[in-house]
Amino acid sequence: MTTATIAADRPGNADPSVIPFTVTFIIRRFDPDTDTEPRWQDFDVEMYATDRVLDALHKIKWEQDGSLTFRRSCAHGICGSDAMRINGRNRLACKTLIKDLDISKPIYVEAIKGLPLEKDLIVDMDPFFASFREVQPFLIPGSKPEPGKERVQSVAERARFDDTTKCILCAACTSSCPVFWTDGQYFGPAAIVNAHRFIFDSRDDASQVRLDILNDKEGVWRCRTTFNCTDACPRGIQVTQAIAEVKQALMRGHA
Ligand code: SF4
Ligand code: F3S
Ligand code: FES
Repeated sequence: MTTATIAADRPGNADPSVIPFTVTFIIRRFDPDTDTEPRWQDFDVEMYATDRVLDALHKIKWEQDGSLTFRRSCAHGICGSDAMRINGRNRLACKTLIKDLDISKPIYVEAIKGLPLEKDLIVDMDPFFASFREVQPFLIPGSKPEPGKERVQSVAERARFDDTTKCILCAACTSSCPVFWTDGQYFGPAAIVNAHRFIFDSRDDASQVRLDILNDKEGVWRCRTTFNCTDACPRGIQVTQAIAEVKQALMRGHA
């Protein structure tokens, strides 16, 4: 019986989370010790509709092929370590439910693009974090406030950067950006999101330093407003909007 037949045969009143069915995963593998090029490998896995793609990767690793290599930690959409391309779209494996994918066809899983491939689903994140560090993603409060006083901030001031505080540094945005794919020199949307978080923080005194950094030829002006980053963000951050706000601050000359 095919996967599609099994899914269609489910009794209408049955809970799909208790009926297992077979899903085919086609995973792009690469072992630098033995492969000259990446290759695709099929795995059939018994899944429940409420399982996640991360559960499938665990089942494959634990039951079929222990050499399958991927990153994950929290398994709950917090740590940002399991961004990958699932059916051609950047997602977190731990937040992608099987029931939300078309299981009548194989599910394709591969590493995110634009960063050096190390092994199977793992890429080298160093260039990504180098751009992140370059924008000085930490509070630089200067001389204020007076010693012993708290840094007062209004609700409206806090709201200016609320969205960009949600970033988990998963790289789904940056690795979905066609400008980043071209040469990897562009700072990328994740670095700009994390600069935005401090540029618009009223307690911070280094907004201009970060704006100057992002005014670079590899900075915000390379963004072509393609929105891939916003579509890819698992935290729902309005990434393209944040980039536009940084561009506007540069044109105004201040945050
Ligand atoms: Fe991930 Fe969104 Fe942060 Fe980009 S902005 S790194 S997609 S959480
Ligand atoms: Fe890239 Fe996002 Fe701009 S995908 S081009 S950073 S809108
Ligand atoms: Fe932490 Fe998915 S494993 S975000």
